[in-house]
Amino acid sequence: MVKKCPNSAQKNKTPRAFSLSLIKRAIYTGALYWVPMDKKQPLFTIAHISDLHFSKVSFGLSQFFSKRWIGNVNLIFNRRRVYKNERPFSLIRPFIDHKVSHVCIVGDVSTTSSEEEFSIASRFMQECEKEHMKVLSIPGNHDAYTKRSYKRQLFYKYFQDDRDKRLPYCLQKNKVSAYFLGHEWWVVKLDTTYPAPFYHSTGKYTEEIDDNLRSLLSALPSTASIIMMNHFPLFYHEHPRRIMYGAEKLRETLSMYPNVKLYLHGHTHRHSIADLRGNHLPIVVDSGSAAHVQRGSWNLITIYPSHCTVTMYSSDAHLQWHKQKTLSYEL
Ligand SMILES: [Fe+2]
Ligand SMILES: [Fe+2]
Repeated sequence: MVKKCPNSAQKNKTPRAFSLSLIKRAIYTGALYWVPMDKKQPLFTIAHISDLHFSKVSFGLSQFFSKRWIGNVNLIFNRRRVYKNERPFSLIRPFIDHKVSHVCIVGDVSTTSSEEEFSIASRFMQECEKEHMKVLSIPGNHDAYTKRSYKRQLFYKYFQDDRDKRLPYCLQKNKVSAYFLGHEWWVVKLDTTYPAPFYHSTGKYTEEIDDNLRSLLSALPSTASIIMMNHFPLFYHEHPRRIMYGAEKLRETLSMYPNVKLYLHGHTHRHSIADLRGNHLPIVVDSGSAAHVQRGSWNLITIYPSHCTVTMYSSDAHLQWHKQKTLSYEL
């Protein structure tokens, strides 16, 4: 007769009992979840671009009654050589190759807010949409360049605010709006532009915008993950004539909403990324300028179920885009 080892029954029993209780506990605490086989499959592939600065010199007399004549002089002697209209168009091929699903343009599509410049920007967006990419855009300070263009709300005549109409926020009126991407992901757009005085490239995050943003963020589902789009950076590293007034208020609000995962901006024309989650702020990403001849740049942001990657691209003088590096973040 073979004697059963007293420990073997124990051994057979214990792991089962242990694993069952562990599973029960995991279900109760929410630690157990089904991991799909396509965990590595991206949910969205987003092209983050900014400061396209499409330009067209205007010779109309009316420019002399506005800030536009400064913009035109600057364009003729300087900007036309530094920013090229064809450069953003050269992005469409890489966007197709990378299967970009969404293009987020964070402002300064124009140089002096003229109808001609907005028409070129509109053609660029239509070409992206023809390739089945969803384009989301917000204005920058150059898109509210003159008092007249701001008063006429020219930017909004050319570019519609795609937004979730279940929420009562519209970018043109409330300066905040939200767009549902899918899979619990939302894009929240901010318009912090105003017709800044001569020689100023400033923005304004006002108390009113802050109230609207807080109400909007509170109205979104608690499970929402948010990508925020604003033209201006969160910190002042700029000349005082180039900052966004009220940035500290926006930082305070963002620190209360940890579900804002990414803050996409432009304006500085410098390519950078900073993970500020240790300071209760989002991952802050600056795409630089996509139109700059010497240092054109953009970001490819890929959102996965539990992490995201940001791949930084820059251009050479021959309109070729080169991958610089890829950074990965757990979300
Ligand atoms: Fe710009
Ligand atoms: Fe700007």
